[in-house]
Amino acid sequence: MFFDRPEAGERALLVHCSFTGSFKRHSAAKRAVASGSNDESGRLASGDSSVDEFVDLVRAAGISPIYLESMQRKDPSPRLLIGSGKVDELAELVKANDIDVALFNHTLSPSQERNLEKELECKVIDRTGLILDIFAQRARSHIGKLQVELAQLEHISTRLVRGWTHLERQQGGIGIRGPGESQLETDRRLLQVRITAIKRRLAKVNAQHDQGRRARSRAELPTIALVGYTNAGKSTLFNAVTSAGVLVKDQLFATLDTTMRSFDLPSFGKIILADTVGFVSDLPHQLVDAFKATLEEAAQADLLLHVIDASAADMQGQIDAVEEVLAEIGAMDLPRIQVMNKVDLLSGAAPLNEVVDEWSDEDLRSRKIWLSAHTGAGMSELLTRIAGSLDANIWRGTLQLAAAQARLRAKLYAEGAVQSEQIDDDGGYELVICHRASALQRLLEEAGISWPPGK
Ligand code: GTP
Repeated sequence: MFFDRPEAGERALLVHCSFTGSFKRHSAAKRAVASGSNDESGRLASGDSSVDEFVDLVRAAGISPIYLESMQRKDPSPRLLIGSGKVDELAELVKANDIDVALFNHTLSPSQERNLEKELECKVIDRTGLILDIFAQRARSHIGKLQVELAQLEHISTRLVRGWTHLERQQGGIGIRGPGESQLETDRRLLQVRITAIKRRLAKVNAQHDQGRRARSRAELPTIALVGYTNAGKSTLFNAVTSAGVLVKDQLFATLDTTMRSFDLPSFGKIILADTVGFVSDLPHQLVDAFKATLEEAAQADLLLHVIDASAADMQGQIDAVEEVLAEIGAMDLPRIQVMNKVDLLSGAAPLNEVVDEWSDEDLRSRKIWLSAHTGAGMSELLTRIAGSLDANIWRGTLQLAAAQARLRAKLYAEGAVQSEQIDDDGGYELVICHRASALQRLLEEAGISWPPGK
Protein backbone atom coordinates (compact mmCIF):
# COMPACT_ATOMS: atom_id res chain seq x y z
CA MET A 1 0.00 0.00 0.00
CA PHE A 2 1.11 3.55 -0.73
CA PHE A 3 1.36 6.19 1.98
CA ASP A 4 -0.62 9.41 1.55
CA ARG A 5 1.80 12.24 1.89
CA PRO A 6 5.45 11.40 1.46
CA GLU A 7 7.33 13.74 3.77
CA ALA A 8 10.82 15.07 3.26
CA GLY A 9 13.77 12.74 3.81
CA GLU A 10 14.89 9.53 2.18
CA ARG A 11 12.16 7.70 0.28
CA ALA A 12 11.66 4.25 1.62
CA LEU A 13 10.04 1.00 0.64
CA LEU A 14 8.95 -0.92 3.75
CA VAL A 15 8.89 -4.69 3.69
CA HIS A 16 7.22 -6.82 6.34
CA CYS A 17 6.73 -10.55 6.07
CA SER A 18 4.79 -12.80 8.47
CA PHE A 19 6.25 -16.28 8.53
CA THR A 20 3.67 -18.95 9.12
CA GLY A 21 5.97 -21.98 9.07
CA SER A 22 8.34 -23.29 11.70
CA PHE A 23 10.24 -20.00 11.69
CA LYS A 24 8.39 -17.44 13.75
CA ARG A 25 9.73 -14.36 15.35
CA HIS A 26 10.19 -15.10 19.01
CA SER A 27 8.33 -12.10 20.29
CA ALA A 28 5.67 -12.11 17.58
CA ALA A 29 4.54 -15.45 18.87
CA LYS A 30 4.15 -14.06 22.35
CA ARG A 31 2.64 -10.77 21.37
CA ALA A 32 -1.08 -10.34 21.62
CA VAL A 33 -1.91 -8.72 18.32
CA ALA A 34 -5.02 -6.65 18.62
CA SER A 35 -6.72 -5.31 15.56
CA GLY A 36 -6.90 -1.69 14.55
CA SER A 37 -4.58 1.02 15.71
CA ASN A 38 -4.58 4.51 16.86
CA ASP A 39 -5.06 6.93 13.99
CA GLU A 40 -5.00 10.04 16.13
CA SER A 41 -1.29 9.65 16.65
CA GLY A 42 -0.83 9.63 12.90
CA ARG A 43 -0.15 5.91 12.74
CA LEU A 44 -0.99 3.63 9.93
CA ALA A 45 -4.08 1.62 10.84
CA SER A 46 -2.76 -1.65 9.57
CA GLY A 47 -4.37 -3.87 12.14
CA ASP A 48 -1.02 -5.46 12.92
CA SER A 49 0.85 -3.92 15.80
CA SER A 50 4.27 -5.14 14.68
CA VAL A 51 3.74 -3.37 11.34
CA ASP A 52 2.54 -0.23 13.14
CA GLU A 53 5.64 -0.25 15.31
CA PHE A 54 7.79 -0.72 12.21
CA VAL A 55 6.20 2.33 10.53
CA ASP A 56 6.71 4.33 13.75
CA LEU A 57 10.37 3.29 13.82
CA VAL A 58 10.84 4.36 10.21
CA ARG A 59 9.32 7.77 10.90
CA ALA A 60 11.41 8.08 14.05
CA ALA A 61 14.50 7.70 11.85
CA GLY A 62 13.31 10.68 9.79
CA ILE A 63 12.59 8.57 6.71
CA SER A 64 9.52 8.88 4.49
CA PRO A 65 7.62 5.66 4.03
CA ILE A 66 6.44 5.61 0.40
CA TYR A 67 5.15 2.09 0.05
CA LEU A 68 4.51 -0.78 2.47
CA GLU A 69 4.63 -4.35 1.22
CA SER A 70 3.22 -6.70 3.81
CA MET A 71 3.17 -10.38 2.92
CA GLN A 72 2.95 -13.90 4.29
CA ARG A 73 5.34 -16.71 3.62
CA LYS A 74 5.91 -20.11 5.12
CA ASP A 75 9.63 -19.83 5.88
CA PRO A 76 12.35 -17.29 5.06
CA SER A 77 14.40 -17.88 1.92
CA PRO A 78 18.12 -18.17 2.78
CA ARG A 79 19.14 -16.09 -0.24
CA LEU A 80 16.64 -13.22 -0.26
CA LEU A 81 14.43 -13.74 2.82
CA ILE A 82 11.37 -13.37 0.58
CA GLY A 83 10.52 -15.02 -2.75
CA SER A 84 12.44 -14.04 -5.89
CA GLY A 85 9.21 -13.25 -7.79
CA LYS A 86 8.27 -10.80 -5.05
CA VAL A 87 11.74 -9.28 -5.18
CA ASP A 88 11.34 -8.70 -8.95
CA GLU A 89 8.03 -6.92 -8.31
CA LEU A 90 9.63 -4.77 -5.63
CA ALA A 91 12.56 -3.91 -7.93
CA GLU A 92 10.05 -2.48 -10.43
CA LEU A 93 8.44 -0.51 -7.65
CA VAL A 94 11.79 0.88 -6.49
CA LYS A 95 12.56 2.09 -9.99
CA ALA A 96 9.12 3.57 -10.66
CA ASN A 97 8.93 5.48 -7.37
CA ASP A 98 12.45 6.80 -6.93
CA ILE A 99 12.98 4.76 -3.78
CA ASP A 100 16.29 5.41 -1.98
CA VAL A 101 16.18 2.61 0.55
CA ALA A 102 14.35 -0.65 1.21
CA LEU A 103 13.77 -1.29 4.91
CA PHE A 104 13.08 -4.81 6.13
CA ASN A 105 11.31 -5.41 9.43
CA HIS A 106 13.56 -8.43 10.01
CA THR A 107 17.12 -9.26 10.78
CA LEU A 108 18.93 -9.93 7.50
CA SER A 109 22.14 -11.88 7.20
CA PRO A 110 24.97 -9.93 5.51
CA SER A 111 24.57 -12.07 2.38
CA GLN A 112 20.78 -11.58 2.23
CA GLU A 113 21.38 -7.85 2.53
CA ARG A 114 23.92 -7.91 -0.32
CA ASN A 115 21.73 -10.08 -2.56
CA LEU A 116 18.74 -7.84 -1.99
CA GLU A 117 20.78 -4.72 -2.72
CA LYS A 118 21.90 -6.24 -6.01
CA GLU A 119 18.37 -7.23 -7.03
CA LEU A 120 16.56 -4.13 -5.83
CA GLU A 121 19.31 -1.73 -6.92
CA CYS A 122 18.95 0.38 -3.82
CA LYS A 123 20.29 0.48 -0.30
CA VAL A 124 18.84 -2.23 1.96
CA ILE A 125 18.65 -1.82 5.74
CA ASP A 126 17.35 -4.37 8.19
CA ARG A 127 15.60 -3.86 11.53
CA THR A 128 18.88 -3.84 13.45
CA GLY A 129 20.33 -1.19 11.12
CA LEU A 130 17.18 0.89 11.48
CA ILE A 131 17.19 0.85 15.29
CA LEU A 132 20.94 1.51 15.33
CA ASP A 133 20.37 4.51 13.11
CA ILE A 134 17.74 5.92 15.47
CA PHE A 135 20.02 5.32 18.46
CA ALA A 136 22.85 7.07 16.58
CA GLN A 137 20.68 10.11 15.97
CA ARG A 138 19.44 10.24 19.55
CA ALA A 139 22.51 9.43 21.63
CA ARG A 140 23.30 12.45 23.72
CA SER A 141 25.57 11.53 26.59
CA HIS A 142 29.20 10.56 26.13
CA ILE A 143 28.52 7.02 27.30
CA GLY A 144 25.46 6.66 25.09
CA LYS A 145 27.41 7.82 22.02
CA LEU A 146 30.24 5.41 22.71
CA GLN A 147 27.87 2.50 23.17
CA VAL A 148 26.01 3.28 19.98
CA GLU A 149 29.22 3.71 18.02
CA LEU A 150 30.44 0.36 19.31
CA ALA A 151 27.20 -1.36 18.31
CA GLN A 152 27.31 0.31 14.88
CA LEU A 153 30.90 -0.71 14.24
CA GLU A 154 30.22 -4.28 15.29
CA HIS A 155 27.18 -4.38 13.01
CA ILE A 156 29.13 -2.88 10.10
CA SER A 157 32.16 -5.12 10.54
CA THR A 158 30.09 -8.23 9.71
CA ARG A 159 28.94 -6.52 6.54
CA LEU A 160 32.32 -5.38 5.27
CA VAL A 161 33.14 -8.61 3.45
CA ARG A 162 32.90 -7.08 0.02
CA GLY A 163 33.26 -3.44 0.98
CA TRP A 164 30.53 -0.89 0.64
CA THR A 165 31.67 0.34 -2.77
CA HIS A 166 28.15 0.24 -4.13
CA LEU A 167 27.11 2.70 -1.47
CA GLU A 168 29.95 5.13 -1.81
CA ARG A 169 28.02 7.21 -4.27
CA GLN A 170 25.39 7.90 -1.64
CA GLN A 171 26.56 10.30 0.98
CA GLY A 172 25.22 9.96 4.51
CA GLY A 173 21.66 8.77 4.97
CA ILE A 174 20.22 5.98 7.03
CA GLY A 175 22.58 3.34 8.32
CA ILE A 176 25.69 5.36 7.67
CA ARG A 177 25.35 8.44 9.82
CA GLY A 178 25.95 9.16 13.47
CA PRO A 179 29.00 8.60 15.59
CA GLY A 180 30.38 5.77 13.42
CA GLU A 181 30.11 7.58 10.10
CA SER A 182 33.76 8.43 9.58
CA GLN A 183 34.76 4.79 10.04
CA LEU A 184 32.73 3.43 7.18
CA GLU A 185 35.44 3.45 4.56
CA THR A 186 38.05 1.90 6.78
CA ASP A 187 38.89 -1.75 6.46
CA ARG A 188 38.20 -4.48 8.98
CA ARG A 189 41.54 -4.12 10.72
CA LEU A 190 41.01 -0.44 11.39
CA LEU A 191 37.49 -1.16 12.55
CA GLN A 192 38.86 -3.67 15.01
CA VAL A 193 41.36 -1.12 16.37
CA ARG A 194 38.55 1.36 16.81
CA ILE A 195 36.30 -1.21 18.48
CA THR A 196 39.03 -2.08 20.98
CA ALA A 197 39.68 1.59 21.72
CA ILE A 198 35.99 2.27 22.34
CA LYS A 199 35.68 -0.75 24.62
CA ARG A 200 38.60 0.56 26.66
CA ARG A 201 37.05 4.00 26.87
CA LEU A 202 33.70 2.56 27.82
CA ALA A 203 35.24 0.59 30.66
CA LYS A 204 36.77 3.82 31.96
CA VAL A 205 33.61 5.87 31.58
CA ASN A 206 31.59 3.11 33.23
CA ALA A 207 33.89 3.22 36.24
CA GLN A 208 33.35 6.98 36.50
CA HIS A 209 29.63 6.44 36.09
CA ASP A 210 29.66 4.08 39.07
CA GLN A 211 31.39 6.70 41.15
CA GLY A 212 28.73 9.21 40.18
CA ARG A 213 26.06 6.79 41.28
CA ARG A 214 27.77 6.17 44.58
CA ALA A 215 27.95 9.91 45.16
CA ARG A 216 24.26 10.18 44.49
CA SER A 217 23.38 7.30 46.73
CA ARG A 218 25.41 8.96 49.46
CA ALA A 219 23.03 11.88 49.14
CA GLU A 220 20.35 9.25 49.83
CA LEU A 221 17.52 11.06 48.15
CA PRO A 222 14.68 8.70 47.27
CA THR A 223 14.87 7.92 43.55
CA ILE A 224 11.99 7.16 41.22
CA ALA A 225 12.68 5.76 37.76
CA LEU A 226 10.36 6.03 34.80
CA VAL A 227 10.47 2.97 32.59
CA GLY A 228 8.25 1.94 29.73
CA TYR A 229 7.80 1.04 26.12
CA THR A 230 9.03 3.54 23.60
CA ASN A 231 6.52 6.33 22.91
CA ALA A 232 4.53 5.49 26.08
CA GLY A 233 4.92 9.07 27.26
CA LYS A 234 7.77 8.85 29.78
CA SER A 235 9.40 12.14 28.77
CA THR A 236 6.02 13.88 28.75
CA LEU A 237 5.30 12.58 32.25
CA PHE A 238 8.80 13.50 33.38
CA ASN A 239 8.20 17.04 32.17
CA ALA A 240 4.75 17.21 33.67
CA VAL A 241 6.17 16.21 37.03
CA THR A 242 9.35 18.27 37.03
CA SER A 243 8.68 20.90 34.34
CA ALA A 244 12.19 20.07 33.29
CA GLY A 245 11.99 20.69 29.57
CA VAL A 246 13.53 17.40 28.43
CA LEU A 247 13.24 16.80 24.70
CA VAL A 248 9.77 15.46 23.84
CA LYS A 249 8.96 14.49 20.29
CA ASP A 250 6.33 12.41 18.62
CA GLN A 251 9.02 9.96 17.71
CA LEU A 252 10.25 6.77 19.19
CA PHE A 253 13.39 6.90 21.28
CA ALA A 254 13.29 10.61 22.04
CA THR A 255 15.27 9.68 25.15
CA LEU A 256 18.37 7.58 24.85
CA ASP A 257 19.98 8.21 28.17
CA THR A 258 18.86 8.43 31.70
CA THR A 259 17.99 11.97 32.54
CA MET A 260 17.70 12.89 36.15
CA ARG A 261 16.09 15.76 37.97
CA SER A 262 15.59 16.41 41.59
CA PHE A 263 12.32 18.02 42.59
CA ASP A 264 10.06 18.65 45.54
CA LEU A 265 7.22 16.20 45.83
CA PRO A 266 4.30 17.96 47.51
CA SER A 267 3.76 16.76 51.09
CA PHE A 268 6.85 14.59 50.87
CA GLY A 269 10.07 16.45 50.18
CA LYS A 270 12.98 16.21 47.79
CA ILE A 271 13.23 13.21 45.47
CA ILE A 272 15.09 12.34 42.28
CA LEU A 273 13.17 11.42 39.15
CA ALA A 274 15.05 9.54 36.41
CA ASP A 275 13.81 9.16 32.84
CA THR A 276 15.09 6.16 30.87
CA VAL A 277 15.30 5.10 27.26
CA GLY A 278 12.22 3.36 25.86
CA PHE A 279 11.89 -0.39 25.39
CA VAL A 280 11.23 -1.92 22.01
CA SER A 281 10.40 -5.45 20.92
CA ASP A 282 13.14 -7.52 19.25
CA LEU A 283 15.95 -5.22 20.33
CA PRO A 284 19.01 -6.01 18.19
CA HIS A 285 21.32 -8.06 20.34
CA GLN A 286 24.24 -5.69 19.70
CA LEU A 287 22.26 -3.01 21.50
CA VAL A 288 21.22 -4.98 24.53
CA ASP A 289 24.32 -3.98 26.52
CA ALA A 290 23.99 -0.32 25.63
CA PHE A 291 20.33 -0.44 26.51
CA LYS A 292 20.76 -2.25 29.80
CA ALA A 293 23.49 0.13 30.88
CA THR A 294 21.03 2.99 30.57
CA LEU A 295 18.63 1.03 32.75
CA GLU A 296 21.00 0.24 35.58
CA GLU A 297 19.88 3.44 37.19
CA ALA A 298 16.36 2.04 37.24
CA ALA A 299 17.49 -1.10 39.06
CA GLN A 300 18.77 1.12 41.91
CA ALA A 301 15.55 3.09 42.28
CA ASP A 302 13.26 3.11 45.32
CA LEU A 303 10.18 3.08 43.12
CA LEU A 304 9.54 2.33 39.46
CA LEU A 305 6.86 4.08 37.46
CA HIS A 306 6.04 1.81 34.56
CA VAL A 307 4.50 4.17 32.00
CA ILE A 308 2.08 2.42 29.66
CA ASP A 309 0.37 3.78 26.55
CA ALA A 310 -3.16 2.71 27.44
CA SER A 311 -4.27 3.63 23.92
CA ALA A 312 -1.79 1.32 22.17
CA ALA A 313 -3.31 -1.51 20.16
CA ASP A 314 -0.72 -3.90 21.55
CA MET A 315 -0.74 -2.65 25.12
CA GLN A 316 -0.35 -6.06 26.77
CA GLY A 317 2.50 -7.04 24.44
CA GLN A 318 4.30 -3.83 25.38
CA ILE A 319 3.77 -4.42 29.10
CA ASP A 320 5.16 -7.95 28.77
CA ALA A 321 8.21 -6.75 26.81
CA VAL A 322 9.04 -4.23 29.54
CA GLU A 323 8.52 -6.66 32.41
CA GLU A 324 10.76 -9.20 30.72
CA VAL A 325 13.66 -6.73 30.63
CA LEU A 326 12.96 -5.52 34.17
CA ALA A 327 13.29 -9.11 35.31
CA GLU A 328 16.61 -9.41 33.45
CA ILE A 329 18.09 -6.38 35.18
CA GLY A 330 16.79 -7.58 38.55
CA ALA A 331 14.27 -4.77 38.97
CA MET A 332 11.08 -6.79 39.29
CA ASP A 333 11.23 -6.85 43.08
CA LEU A 334 11.18 -3.08 43.37
CA PRO A 335 7.94 -1.35 44.32
CA ARG A 336 6.25 -0.47 41.03
CA ILE A 337 3.28 1.62 39.94
CA GLN A 338 1.74 1.00 36.53
CA VAL A 339 0.91 4.39 35.04
CA MET A 340 -1.78 3.90 32.40
CA ASN A 341 -1.10 6.99 30.31
CA LYS A 342 -2.94 8.70 27.42
CA VAL A 343 -6.43 8.15 28.85
CA ASP A 344 -7.48 11.20 26.84
CA LEU A 345 -7.15 9.02 23.73
CA LEU A 346 -9.36 6.23 24.98
CA SER A 347 -12.52 6.47 22.94
CA GLY A 348 -15.70 4.95 24.26
CA ALA A 349 -14.38 4.97 27.80
CA ALA A 350 -16.35 6.59 30.58
CA PRO A 351 -15.82 10.33 30.96
CA LEU A 352 -12.60 10.95 32.79
CA ASN A 353 -14.26 12.21 35.98
CA GLU A 354 -16.21 9.02 36.44
CA VAL A 355 -13.07 7.02 35.97
CA VAL A 356 -11.30 9.21 38.51
CA ASP A 357 -14.06 8.41 41.03
CA GLU A 358 -13.50 4.75 40.43
CA TRP A 359 -9.76 5.13 41.05
CA SER A 360 -10.25 6.90 44.33
CA ASP A 361 -11.85 3.76 45.70
CA GLU A 362 -8.50 2.05 45.46
CA ASP A 363 -6.21 2.38 48.41
CA LEU A 364 -3.26 4.73 48.41
CA ARG A 365 -0.69 2.09 47.61
CA SER A 366 -2.64 0.82 44.64
CA ARG A 367 -0.31 -0.38 41.96
CA LYS A 368 -2.18 1.08 38.99
CA ILE A 369 -3.21 4.59 38.08
CA TRP A 370 -4.87 5.99 34.97
CA LEU A 371 -3.92 9.48 33.79
CA SER A 372 -2.97 11.73 30.92
CA ALA A 373 0.47 13.26 31.12
CA HIS A 374 -0.64 15.43 28.22
CA THR A 375 -3.75 17.03 29.76
CA GLY A 376 -2.64 16.64 33.36
CA ALA A 377 -5.73 14.62 34.34
CA GLY A 378 -4.89 12.27 37.18
CA MET A 379 -1.48 13.83 37.86
CA SER A 380 -2.21 14.89 41.42
CA GLU A 381 -3.41 11.35 42.24
CA LEU A 382 -0.13 10.04 40.88
CA LEU A 383 1.88 12.37 43.10
CA THR A 384 -0.14 11.31 46.13
CA ARG A 385 0.46 7.65 45.37
CA ILE A 386 4.16 8.18 44.80
CA ALA A 387 4.38 9.83 48.19
CA GLY A 388 2.34 6.98 49.69
CA SER A 389 4.59 4.30 48.19
CA LEU A 390 7.78 6.05 49.23
CA ASP A 391 6.49 6.70 52.71
CA ALA A 392 6.96 3.08 53.64
CA ASN A 393 10.75 3.58 53.65
CA ILE A 394 10.69 7.05 55.05
CA TRP A 395 11.10 8.31 58.58
CA ARG A 396 9.07 11.35 59.49
CA GLY A 397 9.18 13.02 62.84
CA THR A 398 10.82 15.62 65.01
CA LEU A 399 14.42 15.41 66.18
CA GLN A 400 15.72 17.31 69.19
CA LEU A 401 19.41 18.21 68.79
CA ALA A 402 21.59 19.95 71.33
CA ALA A 403 23.44 23.09 70.31
CA ALA A 404 26.67 21.06 70.20
CA GLN A 405 25.25 18.82 67.48
CA ALA A 406 25.52 21.50 64.80
CA ARG A 407 27.57 19.16 62.64
CA LEU A 408 24.82 16.54 62.46
CA ARG A 409 22.36 19.34 61.77
CA ALA A 410 24.49 20.49 58.81
CA LYS A 411 24.64 16.94 57.44
CA LEU A 412 20.87 16.58 57.72
CA TYR A 413 20.48 19.80 55.76
CA ALA A 414 23.01 18.65 53.16
CA GLU A 415 20.97 15.51 52.52
CA GLY A 416 17.76 17.49 52.18
CA ALA A 417 16.27 15.81 55.27
CA VAL A 418 15.08 18.92 57.10
CA GLN A 419 11.65 20.31 56.39
CA SER A 420 11.62 23.02 59.06
CA GLU A 421 13.28 23.86 62.35
CA GLN A 422 12.83 25.83 65.51
CA ILE A 423 15.56 26.93 67.88
CA ASP A 424 14.70 26.33 71.51
CA ASP A 425 15.58 28.45 74.55
CA ASP A 426 18.92 26.77 75.30
CA GLY A 427 20.19 27.05 71.71
CA GLY A 428 19.20 23.49 70.72
CA TYR A 429 17.32 22.63 67.55
CA GLU A 430 13.95 21.06 66.97
CA LEU A 431 14.06 19.69 63.41
CA VAL A 432 11.09 18.39 61.44
CA ILE A 433 12.59 15.53 59.44
CA CYS A 434 11.45 13.64 56.37
CA HIS A 435 14.15 11.30 55.10
CA ARG A 436 14.91 7.79 53.94
CA ALA A 437 15.04 5.69 57.11
CA SER A 438 18.26 3.85 56.19
CA ALA A 439 20.11 7.11 55.50
CA LEU A 440 18.87 8.74 58.65
CA GLN A 441 19.86 5.74 60.74
CA ARG A 442 23.40 5.92 59.35
CA LEU A 443 23.71 9.65 60.07
CA LEU A 444 22.38 9.36 63.61
CA GLU A 445 24.48 6.34 64.51
CA GLU A 446 27.59 8.10 63.19
CA ALA A 447 26.72 10.93 65.56
CA GLY A 448 26.27 8.47 68.46
CA ILE A 449 22.47 8.63 68.59
CA SER A 450 20.70 5.30 68.92
CA TRP A 451 18.14 4.17 66.38
CA PRO A 452 15.20 4.67 66.20
CA PRO A 453 15.13 8.12 67.80
CA GLY A 454 12.10 9.14 69.82
CA LYS A 455 9.84 11.21 67.58
P1 GTP B 1 10.84 7.33 24.07
O1 GTP B 1 11.81 8.42 24.32
O2 GTP B 1 10.78 6.90 22.64
O3 GTP B 1 11.01 6.16 24.98
O4 GTP B 1 9.35 7.91 24.30
P2 GTP B 1 8.62 8.39 25.64
O5 GTP B 1 8.03 7.23 26.35
O6 GTP B 1 9.51 9.27 26.45
O7 GTP B 1 7.41 9.21 24.99
P3 GTP B 1 7.18 10.79 24.87
O8 GTP B 1 6.98 11.42 26.21
O9 GTP B 1 8.23 11.35 23.99
O10 GTP B 1 5.75 10.79 24.17
C1 GTP B 1 5.51 10.21 22.91
C2 GTP B 1 4.33 10.87 22.24
O11 GTP B 1 3.14 10.62 22.99
C3 GTP B 1 4.43 12.40 22.16
O12 GTP B 1 3.87 12.80 20.95
C4 GTP B 1 3.58 12.89 23.31
O13 GTP B 1 3.04 14.17 23.06
C5 GTP B 1 2.48 11.84 23.31
N1 GTP B 1 1.86 11.73 24.64
C6 GTP B 1 2.45 11.53 25.83
N2 GTP B 1 1.54 11.48 26.84
C7 GTP B 1 0.33 11.65 26.25
C8 GTP B 1 -1.02 11.69 26.75
O14 GTP B 1 -1.32 11.58 27.95
N3 GTP B 1 -2.00 11.88 25.82
C9 GTP B 1 -1.73 12.02 24.49
N4 GTP B 1 -2.74 12.19 23.68
N5 GTP B 1 -0.49 11.99 23.99
C10 GTP B 1 0.53 11.81 24.86
